[in-house]
Amino acid sequence: MPVNTDDGRGGGMRPHAPLRPSLATLPVTGVEPPLARRPIVLIGFMGVGKSAVGKRLARLLGYEFVDTDLMVEQVEGKTIAAIFADEGEERFREMETAALREALQQPARVVSAGGGITTREENRRILAGSAAVVLLTARPEVVLMRVRPIEKRPMLAGWPDPLERIRSLMQERAPIYSEYHCRFDTSHCPPRVTAEKIARWYASLHTEESDARR
Ligand code: S3P
Repeated sequence: MPVNTDDGRGGGMRPHAPLRPSLATLPVTGVEPPLARRPIVLIGFMGVGKSAVGKRLARLLGYEFVDTDLMVEQVEGKTIAAIFADEGEERFREMETAALREALQQPARVVSAGGGITTREENRRILAGSAAVVLLTARPEVVLMRVRPIEKRPMLAGWPDPLERIRSLMQERAPIYSEYHCRFDTSHCPPRVTAEKIARWYASLHTEESDARR
């Protein structure tokens, strides 16, 4: 499946490796819809711009925008930070999986997924079978500027050197961000421009699909 990517330096699109075979071939029950007819899910580290880009992308496509963090907060009636503090990370991850399943019920959606969503194999499996997965990335220094105030970020709060924490968490998480259909770096790219690039990629999937049907 030809896919496009972006190196964040304003260059063009070029092919890159598809989903890692180990996950792309995981058995998924039922018939998997083609990429062009799946909801788009934005994954990536905190502060890469999933919500900012996602809202603009949804507007461009005429899709509904949903955010798994907001879904969990609405169900629980408290903030993510309070859920982590009161019930712990594991419980949050369970709610996050439920929110992801719910978010993927409608195809015409852009979903901003919490930065840790792909830490769970179950979620990676759901994404591989049901979503067009777009990975957003950004440099650690840029992430640090975007995630303040740190106190609202349970994965970063309380660490003496937040930049170092971001770097090490990114390194630790590199494998869980390795499955995607398309990737864009947002470090130097405004959300509107990234949204336009993703919309072009998504439109190209529809063209491929209709070409294949001819
Ligand atoms: C988390 C990222 C957050 C939120 C929670 C945990 C993570 O989402 O789900 O604080 O583990 O990286 P955003 O990436 O939307 O900030």
